[in-house]
Amino acid sequence: MTAPISPQSLRRIARLCSLRSKRWERCYTIVKLRSDPVYAAVAQELTGSSLPVLDIGCGIGLLAFYLREVGYTPEISGFDYDRHKIACAQSMVARSDYRGLSFTTGDARHGLPETTGHVVILDILQFFTPDEQSVLLARAASRVAPGGRLIIRTCLRDDSRRFRITVAGDWLAKLTFWMKAPPVCYPDRALFESVLGAAGLRVRLAPLWGATPFNNHLIVAERA
Ligand SMILES: C[S@@+](CC[C@H](N)C(=O)[O-])C[C@H]1O[C@@H](n2cnc3c(N)ncnc32)[C@H](O)[C@@H]1O
Repeated sequence: MTAPISPQSLRRIARLCSLRSKRWERCYTIVKLRSDPVYAAVAQELTGSSLPVLDIGCGIGLLAFYLREVGYTPEISGFDYDRHKIACAQSMVARSDYRGLSFTTGDARHGLPETTGHVVILDILQFFTPDEQSVLLARAASRVAPGGRLIIRTCLRDDSRRFRITVAGDWLAKLTFWMKAPPVCYPDRALFESVLGAAGLRVRLAPLWGATPFNNHLIVAERA
């Protein structure tokens, strides 16, 4: 696993949202980048690649900032339907020295930007119905270049205590207005094997719990 982000990098990113009006985003950034193992896991999957990255449901752009801090230089475009989060990501880029980062507003249920390279989907599938999840995965797979990867982090539906804690966390995010929508449906592992396998990608799946109580898994689908 890639080493966790350095304290200097963390401070640099957090400072980008240090305006008075962004106090909440600053706290969120520090806690999230310190505690969530997903950013290092994605960075490890991208190590050594020169392909651009499309981040679907990018939120305030933390993955893009993290990747720049660990030395990933290709273009990164983020895409999210929450215009407030995209505005925050854009203002953070404007306050930074990072180059080649772009963030646009759009609903992934209605289509994806026309890019090819790597595609990342972190923690958004639970907002989609099963049919919408299949369509999104197929569209995302079609954006994966030869040698590229589709990297997904999601909670898997099962009967574990971790699963119940994840559902409670997603409802809390909705009730505090951090998320626009409540969770709709959590995928199971068969979905990835069927949709991404049919798209010609080789799929692997592993728990990605770190020190969190959530039932998160990392799914990596590669195009040979
Ligand atoms: C739990 S957050 C994850 C943010 C980011 N991926 C991360 O891990 O730092 C889920 C994100 O998905 C976005 N989202 C949910 N449904 C979406 C949709 N239909 N189209 C685009 N973005 C969506 C939300 O606005 C939110 O920013």
